[in-house]
Amino acid sequence: MSDERLAIAGTGAIACGLATVGATLGDVVVFARSDASAERARASVEKQRSKLEDPGPGAVTVTSSWDDLRDATFFVESVAEEPAVKGAVLGHLDTVAGPDAILATTTSSLSVGELALASGRPERFVGLHVFNPVPRMKLVELAFPPQASPDTQQRATALCAALDKTAVVVPDAPGFVVNKLLFPYLFSAVEFAEQHGMRPEDVDECMKLGAGHPMGPLALLDFVGLDVSAAIGREIGAAVPARVEALIAEGALGRKSGRGFYNYG
Ligand code: CAA
Repeated sequence: MSDERLAIAGTGAIACGLATVGATLGDVVVFARSDASAERARASVEKQRSKLEDPGPGAVTVTSSWDDLRDATFFVESVAEEPAVKGAVLGHLDTVAGPDAILATTTSSLSVGELALASGRPERFVGLHVFNPVPRMKLVELAFPPQASPDTQQRATALCAALDKTAVVVPDAPGFVVNKLLFPYLFSAVEFAEQHGMRPEDVDECMKLGAGHPMGPLALLDFVGLDVSAAIGREIGAAVPARVEALIAEGALGRKSGRGFYNYG
């Protein structure tokens, strides 16, 4: 069991997905940097909770005041994958968090060790890498900085179990396990389709029906977001296909922008 009180900084798909899952345990507070992102987050959490058979007892409160996060015991930073942005948010969280509180990051590709140092409390810090869509994906990759205390490790593991997730402790290496292995495959699917003039639908159908994947690689890139995918590629040292960069330049970022390899009407 875990009686952590969750606070989440960020309003993207991962932050809102985590808030949705957190509410199956108890109240969750979400920090939004603007009124517009707060509105989007409320709508996203509501939509995600409506898909759950049992959305749980918790209320999700979205706020733009750091002070409203004070009562939490487990703070999760889930903002843009930029070290400076994450570092600034972790600094704010450290000032509002009580001395025993744990700080976490959902980074998918940055160094947990470096973010732990930026947080000011590396002994109570963890990389908590959840997957999209958070309510549906069972895995959490847990990456601890070298300074993480046994109590931090135990509490992070207990929280994952309470959220009904399977935690696997992974090395603090770029991309951890899943992204390091997944993205070279996704990018090679793009290159293959380009090289042979194949339609995204056909490549995706092959991998869905031939390899038993729930989504084909091009649909999955759209789902993750092409900008996020390119950032992951750069962090893990995988060559980002020119076609992905071209789509990003056109503002076609995948599902979230209405167009990527596919059109989302
Ligand atoms: N909460 C939130 N969103 C949900 C959801 C839930 N409980 N269940 C489904 N979804 C979303 C989908 O994103 C999609 O969104 P729209 O509302 O915009 O249509 C829609 O619901 C489709 O869901 P369906 O239930 O119709 O589809 P499905 O039953 O076939 O399952 C899926 C959808 C779970 C996404 C499945 O296709 C799947 O497992 N795909 C692979 C996902 C994957 O590999 N994720 C990892 C990506 S890598 C990553 O996340 C790491 C990183 O660091 C970037």
